[in-house]
Amino acid sequence: MTETTITLHTDFQIAPVDPRIFGGFLEQMGRSIYQGVYDPASSHVDEDGFRRDVLDALRGLAMPVVRYPGGNFASGYHWRDGVGPRDQRPTVRELAWQSIEPNSIGTDEFMRLCRKMDWDPMITVNLGTGTPEEARDWVEYCNCAPGTRFSDMRVANGSPSPHSVSLWCLGNEMDGPWQLGHVPAGQYAVRAQQAAKMMRDVDSGIELVACGSCATGLATYMDWDREVLEYLGDYADYISLHRYVGNDVNDTADFLAITNSIDRQIEDMDAVCRFVQARRRSKARTYLCFDEWNVWYRARGSAHQDGMGRFAPHLIEEVYNLEDALVVAGFLNSFIRHADVLKIANLAQLVNVIAPLLTRGDQLLVQSIYYPFAMFARRREGVALQAAVSGPTYEGRTNGEVTVIDSSAILNGDTLHVFLTNRSLDQSATVRIRVEDRAATAIDSAEIVTGEGPAAANSFERPNAVTSRAFSDVTIVDGAASAVMPPLAAAAVSLRLC
Ligand code: AHR
Repeated sequence: MTETTITLHTDFQIAPVDPRIFGGFLEQMGRSIYQGVYDPASSHVDEDGFRRDVLDALRGLAMPVVRYPGGNFASGYHWRDGVGPRDQRPTVRELAWQSIEPNSIGTDEFMRLCRKMDWDPMITVNLGTGTPEEARDWVEYCNCAPGTRFSDMRVANGSPSPHSVSLWCLGNEMDGPWQLGHVPAGQYAVRAQQAAKMMRDVDSGIELVACGSCATGLATYMDWDREVLEYLGDYADYISLHRYVGNDVNDTADFLAITNSIDRQIEDMDAVCRFVQARRRSKARTYLCFDEWNVWYRARGSAHQDGMGRFAPHLIEEVYNLEDALVVAGFLNSFIRHADVLKIANLAQLVNVIAPLLTRGDQLLVQSIYYPFAMFARRREGVALQAAVSGPTYEGRTNGEVTVIDSSAILNGDTLHVFLTNRSLDQSATVRIRVEDRAATAIDSAEIVTGEGPAAANSFERPNAVTSRAFSDVTIVDGAASAVMPPLAAAAVSLRLC
C-alpha cells in the first residue's frame, strides 16, 4: 500500500475549465459516419437515418462541441458535394483514406445531428486541395442570413435559419507530408491568412483555429508553429495540437507516465504562443486547441488505413483496454491542469474509428475509454485548482519521473471534484485529500474505473470487463477525505465543502 497526500486551497486557482475541452471529433472516414452514427439500414434508425443506440450512448459523454468532417478527409473535401438533394450528390474517390464517398451526409445533415445532440459544430475547411474562397463560401452557406448566393442555397436545401457555426479550423495537419496539399509553413501561413481574412469578412464573429504541429516528432515541431503564428497574427484565436499515443513495447508503467509528455507538449506550444505574442507586442493571446487526441497504435499501417476503393471500410478500429482508459484519464488530468491555456480539445473519434463505441451490425459495444471520459464529463463545471501532490514516484523508461498518483481538481462552488489515477501495477494506494481553507463534510458521489489487469478489454462477448462503478472506499475524517484505490484504477471523488 502506498500513501499520497493531495493538498489544495480554494484560492489557488488555475483558471475556469472551458467545457469545450470535453469535445469530440467525427471524421467522414471508415465506419465513423456510415454504419456509425448514420445507418438507415439499422433497426435502431431514427427519422433522419441516425442510429438511436449510438446517439444515446454518445449523450453519456455530454460533448459540448464536435469537430467535422476531418481530419485528413477535410483536405480533399469539397463541401458543395455534400449539400442539396441526395440523389444529385456525386459519388467521389476519397484519397486520404482511399475510399468511396457517396456524400449522403454533408453539412446540413451534420448540423441536424448537432441539434439533436446539443453539440456545437466545429468545421475544418479544406486548405489542402480547396481554395481560401471555397472556405469563405462555406462560412456564408452556414452563417449568413438569406439573401445571398450561398445562404440562399442553404435555404433551398431546407435550412432557412443560419447554422451559426462559430468555430472553424483552418485546415488539418498541414505540416504532415501525408496530408493532401501539404506545404511548408510559409505557404500554409499565406493560404490560411487569405482564408481567415475572407471568412472573417463574411462573419466577423467566428473563431479560428490555425494548424499547429500535429506530431512532436516532426522535424518542423515548434518552428512550424512560430512561423505560422507570426504570419497569421490576430487571425489565430487558437493553434491546434494533435497527439496519438501507444504502448508499442508493452511497458505499462512507461505508458501511464505519458502524462509528462502531454504536459510538456502543452507547455511547449504555449511557450511558442507567448513568444510570438511578445515579439509582436500584441495584446491578443493565442490559446491552445487539442483538436485530436487519443490512444492509437495497434490499428496502424496500410491494412488499417487503406480503404482499397471501398465504401465504409473498416479503418483504424482500435480495441481499447484498461491501460488505455487510464491514459485517457491522464490526458484529461493534464488538460484540467492546463485550464489557463487549453480551451478546446476533441477526443478522436466517436464511433468505430479509434472510438469509445464500436458497432457490429445492430450491436453496440461500449469500449473501456468511454468510462473515464464520461466520469470526468459529469464533473467538468468549475475552476481548476492547483494540487500539491506528496507521495511516491517512479521513473518511466522514456517518459521520466511521475507521481504514482496522477491527479487534477475542479472546484464548483461548494463542490470539489478530485480525479485520481493509481498508476501502480500491483499496489493499492491510500490517497488523502486535504483542502487547507475548507473542510470536506460529505461525499456527494464517487466512481471508479478499473478491471482485471492492464490488458482487460470489453468485447461483444464480454462487454463489461472494464466499466465504471460506484466507489465506496472513500471516507471523511476530520474534514479530510481518504480514498483507498486499487492498482490500475482511475477515480473521481466529488466532495461537499463547508
Ligand atoms: O483521426 C485519424 C487521423 O489522424 C486524422 O484524419 C488525422 O488528422 C490524424 O492524422
